[in-house]
Amino acid sequence: MTTSIEVENVSKKFSMQYQRTLKQVAVAKLRGQRIKDSFWALQDVSFQVQQGEAIGLMGLNGSGKSTLLKHIMGVMRPTSGTVRTRGRISGLIATGAGFHPQMTGTENIYMNAAILGMTKEETDAKFDDIAGFADVGEFLDTPVGNYSSGMFARLGFSVAVNVDCDVFIADEVLAVGDQPFKKKCMKRMEQIRDSGVTLFYVSHAAQSVRRMCTRVIVLEKGVVGFDGDVDEGIHYLHYDDSEDVDAEEEQTTDGELGSEV
Ligand SMILES: Nc1ncnc2c1ncn2[C@@H]1O[C@H](COP(=O)(O)OP(=O)(O)O)[C@@H](O)[C@H]1O
Ligand SMILES: [Mg+2]
Repeated sequence: MTTSIEVENVSKKFSMQYQRTLKQVAVAKLRGQRIKDSFWALQDVSFQVQQGEAIGLMGLNGSGKSTLLKHIMGVMRPTSGTVRTRGRISGLIATGAGFHPQMTGTENIYMNAAILGMTKEETDAKFDDIAGFADVGEFLDTPVGNYSSGMFARLGFSVAVNVDCDVFIADEVLAVGDQPFKKKCMKRMEQIRDSGVTLFYVSHAAQSVRRMCTRVIVLEKGVVGFDGDVDEGIHYLHYDDSEDVDAEEEQTTDGELGSEV
């Protein structure tokens, strides 16, 4: 087995700034008020992932999931610790990130593909697949500034799944998509997983994590609270509780998605 990702004692410190302008900072200083605080978004996070594992990264909002994925994608550096990855990484962390509002869908496809490491020739060859998967119709030639969040997700996801990669990251990107698109994406991610690509899947929908993943990592306030079996991880989070407030939504989401669950 080959190691795909190695995260070793990673910690990340962020600062929170309470004032936005220099004037506000000056006034706050004169009044003896606090200017900024810092906090640890990730604390001593360590784990290893073998090539081909499918990780369900779970945890409450603000627990550090996206921050951790940004470190794996290489767009953020840890305050301390190391992250090592093997091969090309594709995926989506925030829908709409990396898109330029004044450029058209087509132009943004080229730009995003380039950011994910594709050459123009590669993108040319895959353009029809990408546009077909996004399925935004004639909106492809209009500025993406007018797109809905669902349309952003379609475009971003379509580029990401068409990049030949070794690691694929999907961070809550399907939450805004409509049912047919979600279904299509889940199917595509299963194909990607089955071809031996390492998968990181962030979702609050327990059923889809069960369907997609072979292992669950739970983050709690920046600390790894659980790392192991999928069902145990979901149980650890109490996401398998049928009286959960999300149960109703989850049923509608996963009734279609998790047909074989
Ligand atoms: N660039 C940043 N600067 C300051 N704080 C940040 C930054 N990015 C994220 N945070 C904070 O770090 C914490 C973890 O955020 P995030 O990783 O996005 O959580 P999750 O994806 O699990 O919901 C949150 O409290 C968030 O407000
Ligand atoms: Mg997040």
